[in-house]
Amino acid sequence: MIVLGIESSCDETAAAVYDTSKGLLASVVRSQIADHAPYGGVIPELAARKHLEAIIPVTREAIQQAGLSLAETDGIAATYTPGLIGALLVGLSFAKALAWSLHCPFIGVHHLEGHLLSPFLDTAVTAPSFPFIALIVSGGHTSLYKVSDFGNYHLLGKTVDDAAGEALDKAGKLLGLPYPGGMAIDTLTREAGNRNAYDFPIGLNQRDNLNFSFSGLKTSLVYRLKKMGLVPRSGMVPPIDPPLLQDLAASYQEAVVSALIRKASFALQETGLADLVVTGGVASNHRLRERLVKKAEKEGVRIIFPDKAYCTDNAAMIAFAGTLRLKAGQRHDLSLNAVSRLPLESI
Ligand code: KG4
Ligand code: ZN
Repeated sequence: MIVLGIESSCDETAAAVYDTSKGLLASVVRSQIADHAPYGGVIPELAARKHLEAIIPVTREAIQQAGLSLAETDGIAATYTPGLIGALLVGLSFAKALAWSLHCPFIGVHHLEGHLLSPFLDTAVTAPSFPFIALIVSGGHTSLYKVSDFGNYHLLGKTVDDAAGEALDKAGKLLGLPYPGGMAIDTLTREAGNRNAYDFPIGLNQRDNLNFSFSGLKTSLVYRLKKMGLVPRSGMVPPIDPPLLQDLAASYQEAVVSALIRKASFALQETGLADLVVTGGVASNHRLRERLVKKAEKEGVRIIFPDKAYCTDNAAMIAFAGTLRLKAGQRHDLSLNAVSRLPLESI
């Protein structure tokens, strides 16, 4: 079975082709980072417009890369939730129109199911064994799931306010770093910065639940900067000397990473499971990886980081999840609408 997957939930326009016998045949991602960078964050209206411009060329490129014609696809899959409504509607409407014109089945995919299944796409990493714990950590999501099987997901905890990537992006913006701040903070702190220079709070630090909270972290950075005489104007502080900037960024990043590792560890302990998949844009963070690798060596757990290409938003994970659902006989009719938020367990 050959499935074309379409993803447009946030600021990446993506198309991919997955073949159940040959694996991933093509994956094309066009990022809008440069379009949103001047605004310091994703502008929903702009995202939808950029998806409209990119959706046809990106899909054409994926079909060409796969060496197929559109008529050879057996099904079309597209992200329908969660995400920015205007952005979702572009990919979803396009995918439904394609399915209608090709007379082939259509399936809407939950974006987080795509992320949870991303380790199965990376043939270079050993696939996790069911059941496993998955930490999805991106600009829009920070959630812990127990994955018992394909289609069997149990939410263990999630952020009650900001996502971890959002917390890093907000700090980056405040510190005058380029967008997206998470990536910029990572780059800035790879070679320099004292991560113990400042003490930042870890939200919901107690053991009794697996939820996260990151909103207090940004507030604490604002207070610290004000104390230093660095008062934000238009959401940004005046230029900071590099050593101080590196120490602040490294300490802030350490608090985010500590929160993620703490709750992921509790999830492993509580469930007695030994496989942890870490996926989403923040999974590329060098400090998160460094600490988790050490943890794995010390505690005999297995940490699986899918390749960055499958961690950040892509359509390969949507095509793969769509293939599994179509193979299981599931279909959506063409009245399926975009939904901005929908718990994964409810699908
Ligand atoms: O998964 P993703 O591409 O899109 C969604 O948010 O769904 O993740 C983007 C997020 C942004 O917040 C970005 O700052 C963060 O991932 N990010 C990183 C790194 N690369 C991307 N955060 C920390 N370290 C990185 N290397
Ligand atoms: Zn995502």
